[in-house]
Amino acid sequence: MVSENDIRVLIDEKTLRKKVSELGKLITKDYRDKKPVLVAILKGSFIFVADICRYIKIPVMFDFMAVSSYGNARVSSGIVRITKDLDTNIEGRDIIIIEDIIDSGRTLNYLIKNLKARNPASIEVCALLDKNVPRKTSNEVKYKGFDIPNKYVIGYGLDVGEKYRNLAYIGYIEE
Ligand code: IMP
Ligand code: MG
Repeated sequence: MVSENDIRVLIDEKTLRKKVSELGKLITKDYRDKKPVLVAILKGSFIFVADICRYIKIPVMFDFMAVSSYGNARVSSGIVRITKDLDTNIEGRDIIIIEDIIDSGRTLNYLIKNLKARNPASIEVCALLDKNVPRKTSNEVKYKGFDIPNKYVIGYGLDVGEKYRNLAYIGYIEE
């Protein structure tokens, strides 16, 4: 059980806002002649996508995908399953995957492979957090928010057992 007293702040609200606005501005600049589709990976990135999209000052479309790799555990099972697929056809479109956090990298790897098979014009990744863990695979993340230590983090969309997604900051649990 996690209690409120065990939560420490890792990235506060103001720092998050500044970084998210910078990423949004970068995307605005890089995609100024395009109409990208933001593909947000649920549920973890729902707050991130809602915030970043307001700093993207070009026409964008949205679609959502849900995958499960953890179940309710804190350790990745390694098996990625699509629980909700895109509603739109992304063939020929410029895709920006909006992801909350990269841990083992397996989810992202799977997603990139899966979406590439649908023949988009391009795919880039925008991830708020990148955990410092040894990985067998490397993912090219063009738009990255923060490198963070290998701790289990919560808040700003991220959960532990479906709780704490609504924290306005990124916190971690003091073990
Ligand atoms: P990966 O496949 O191991 O990279 O795991 C990626 C997914 O696991 C993320 O999209 C998150 O939904 C979830 N996840 C990974 N690390 C954390 C964490 O520290 N807190 C909450 N969720 C996490
Ligand atoms: Mg999750």
